[in-house]
Amino acid sequence: MLNLDALAAQPELPGDAVMLRQLDASYLDGVWQSLHDPETARYTGTHATFTREQVERFLAARPAATDRADWAVTRAADGAFLGEVVLQELDASNESMSLRIALGGPHVFGRGYGTEATRLVLDFAFESVGLHRVGLEVFDFNTRAQRVYEKCGFVREGVLRDALLWNGTRHDTVVMSILSTDCRFP
Ligand SMILES: CC(C)(COP(=O)(O)OP(=O)(O)OC[C@H]1O[C@@H](n2cnc3c(N)ncnc32)[C@H](O)[C@@H]1OP(=O)(O)O)[C@@H](O)C(=O)NCCC(=O)NCCS
Repeated sequence: MLNLDALAAQPELPGDAVMLRQLDASYLDGVWQSLHDPETARYTGTHATFTREQVERFLAARPAATDRADWAVTRAADGAFLGEVVLQELDASNESMSLRIALGGPHVFGRGYGTEATRLVLDFAFESVGLHRVGLEVFDFNTRAQRVYEKCGFVREGVLRDALLWNGTRHDTVVMSILSTDCRFP
C-alpha cells in the first residue's frame, strides 16, 4: 500500500556527508551552473537548452509537486549545493517510480556524495513511500554512475540500443532497477 502523503510531504533526508532538502528557486544559481557543466550535460544526455527564467519557474514549482520528489543535494557541513536527486514518473498502480541524480560538476564527483544521496532516496522510496520498484536509465559510457547504482543494489536489466546520439556518436542506454525485495546495499 503506497503512502502518497509521504511522497507529497517530501521530508528532508539527513545523511553523514549530505543533507537532501526540497529543491526550490533558492538553488537557482547552483542548478544554473550545473546545467552549464559540459561533463554533467554529457552524462545526463541533456540536449535541451533553457533560459534562466524557465529554470527559475521550474524550480519555484517543485515544492507544490505531490507526485514526485525533487531534492537539492547539499553538503551537510556547510549547506553548499552539490546537485539534485529526483524520484519521478510515479506509476501508482504498479508501485513504481524512477530515479535520476546529477551532481554539479567534476569538483564534486567521486567523493561519495552520489552514493549517499542515492541510498537516502532509496530508503525513503521503499520505507516511507512503500514503492516496490525504482528504475533508472544510464548511458553505457557512464561507468561511474553504474558503479554507484550497483553499490546501492540496482540490477542491470538490459540495454536500449543507440538510444543516445551525442556529438555524432551513438551510445546504448542501460536500464537498471531495484525492487523492495532486493538486497538494498549489497
Ligand atoms: C553519477 C554520480 C551521481 C555519482 O556520484 P559520485 O558522488 O560522483 O560517486 P561516488 O563518489 O559516490 O562513487 C563513485 C564510485 O564509482 C567509482 N568510480 C569512479 N570513477 C569511475 C569510473 N570511471 N568507472 C567506474 N567506476 C568509477 C568510484 O571508485 C566509487 O566506487 P567505490 O566507492 O567502490 O570506490 C555523479 O558522479 C554525477 O552526478 N555525475 C554526473 C551526472 C551523472 O552521471 N548522473 C547520472 C546519470 S544516469
